Amino acid sequence: MAKLTKAEEKLHAEALALVDLERDLSEVEKWFVLEHFQEASTATNSTHGAFFTPDGLARDFAIEVPDSAARIIDFGAGIGRLSIGCRNQFGSRWNSDPDREFVCIERNSAYVRIGRKLLPEAVWIEGDVLDVLDMGLGHFDVAIGNPPFGGIKRSKDALGYKGRKFEYHVIALASQLADYGVFIIPQMSAPFRYSGRPYYEGDCGDREYRKFSDVTGIVLNANCGIDTSSYAGDWHGVSPAVEIVTVDFEECRSAAAHEEETETAVHPVPMKVIDVQLPEPDVVPSESGEQYMFQLGEAQVDDRGEPVPCHADVLLAIANEVS
Ligand SMILES: C[S@@+](CC[C@H](N)C(=O)[O-])C[C@H]1O[C@@H](n2cnc3c(N)ncnc32)[C@H](O)[C@@H]1O
Repeated sequence: MAKLTKAEEKLHAEALALVDLERDLSEVEKWFVLEHFQEASTATNSTHGAFFTPDGLARDFAIEVPDSAARIIDFGAGIGRLSIGCRNQFGSRWNSDPDREFVCIERNSAYVRIGRKLLPEAVWIEGDVLDVLDMGLGHFDVAIGNPPFGGIKRSKDALGYKGRKFEYHVIALASQLADYGVFIIPQMSAPFRYSGRPYYEGDCGDREYRKFSDVTGIVLNANCGIDTSSYAGDWHGVSPAVEIVTVDFEECRSAAAHEEETETAVHPVPMKVIDVQLPEPDVVPSESGEQYMFQLGEAQVDDRGEPVPCHADVLLAIANEVS
């Protein structure tokens, strides 16, 4: 466990004692646990990239989740910070909207146990996010996540993407399950820079981003203008430069389908027009009245290469020879 101050250790112990209570926790107690539970108390937190989202950032993050989202999946949910941020404040939503349904996937059993205490209404799955497509979870309005970053060890690749960045694998998987996504990822993995900068810079995806985007068809977008650097000092033990990215998976899917359609469309054989004298009644005369215009495949030529009348349905093979 990373070195904690005496005060942090005490608060962490109090948080654990709350989790151990048999009864349900009050909202205030839940917030206490969220604030003071130290993810570094589990030995695997560094290897699994477990650094929980600060409270303020989770609240800002929630702004990006469309109001209409009713079913949400949280990839690498930790103890539920992001889902709780996107939940219904104090148990109810504005305008009598129905409560949101959450599915939280997390590999660390200690975190799942706490998550169940903090967000009991969610479905908690202790497992590997890379197995998510085999879990039979159905479809979601929105996928959210602050996944592990970078070259964290993984059990498999997501569909299409084979690169090293765990966050891209998660987003590629999410694209198979949800219509929309909101994620916290390293600033270097986003195609824009905004947080901690004097102004927004777009179009700065690096080679790895372009590779990810090319193979998956996924385009990551900016958010409404959240500067995550305001919370840089609120993480436990780290201070990563991150961005909140949004992605319209539905739009990416229809763009990919359109591209595929265009690629597989039958392209007409380039037209080659020749003149023939064809007194058939069912053909259209050219403006000269004497000559008839036909596309390649509708005309035949004689031994001297002169066009001759012929029925259209026997011409294709001959026309190929001519061309
Ligand atoms: C950066 S933390 C974020 C936790 C939480 N979403 C939050 O925002 O506070 C990433 C989480 O992903 C979990 N994780 C790492 N690898 C995982 C995997 N393969 N499957 C499921 N969860 C994983 C870690 O244990 C950790 O809790």
